Amino acid sequence: MSMERALQYIRARIQTRPTLALVLGSGLGSLANAASGTIALATTDIPGYPTSTVVGHAGKLVFGTLAGMDVVFLQGRLHRYEGHDLDKTTFPIRLLAELGVLRLLLTNAAGGVNIDFRPGTLMWITDHINWAFEVPRLPGAVSRPVYDRVWTRDAMEVARTMNIATVNGTYAWTRGPQYETPAEVRALGAMGADAVGMSTVPEALVANSLGMRVLGLSTITNAAAGLGTEPLNHDEVLETGRRVQKDLQRLVLGVVEKTIAS
Ligand code: HPA
Repeated sequence: MSMERALQYIRARIQTRPTLALVLGSGLGSLANAASGTIALATTDIPGYPTSTVVGHAGKLVFGTLAGMDVVFLQGRLHRYEGHDLDKTTFPIRLLAELGVLRLLLTNAAGGVNIDFRPGTLMWITDHINWAFEVPRLPGAVSRPVYDRVWTRDAMEVARTMNIATVNGTYAWTRGPQYETPAEVRALGAMGADAVGMSTVPEALVANSLGMRVLGLSTITNAAAGLGTEPLNHDEVLETGRRVQKDLQRLVLGVVEKTIAS
């Protein structure tokens, strides 16, 4: 079974026992630099691990300590639009659960559907809309809410204390890989979406059904299609990611510290 082989490969190489995992979205991969004592494993070297092909998604598992806590970063995630089915897309999440991870912080880059959420806005995901109309095979029941209320409230408090502006919102998952049409963005807005992106929802569902606590944080990297002045492109997404990186890094570190303390 590919899961067993992957676990064996990883366990032979790490000394840590991470209970917190952070999935780093487009342009956010450098967050792992904040950790110490890191061991990076290329996902292409891990037996049975599906491969990622997206620019800006490095494809590494980085084990280390952050604020004294054993953590693991997923640098580069898998997307449904890369051709993986949802079981493959969520393989890393099941792997994390097997490694003992109890909390999962999912970050992503998203388009702003809510016109008040300008590029650079940091948004806690309080709920989602599954606009791909597809669900992964779930190991257990999904308990609601998908995104942990207490952890989210604590994280908001951390942001406030650090003077980092954040908002709450609903994330809509579209399958991609093409960006939405302006008409789709208007439809999503009418349905109550604040942001739109091509990841996170399958991971959150699987993590939740495995009993993990899930925290979701979107970086609004661009106005969604039809709402901005410029046509959308992946470079803008990466550029905004770079711009907010410092605040994001501070914030995530603060959230991890608070998580240890609580
Ligand atoms: N749409 C979908 N996914 C995205 C976007 C967007 O506008 N920006 C970053 N990821």
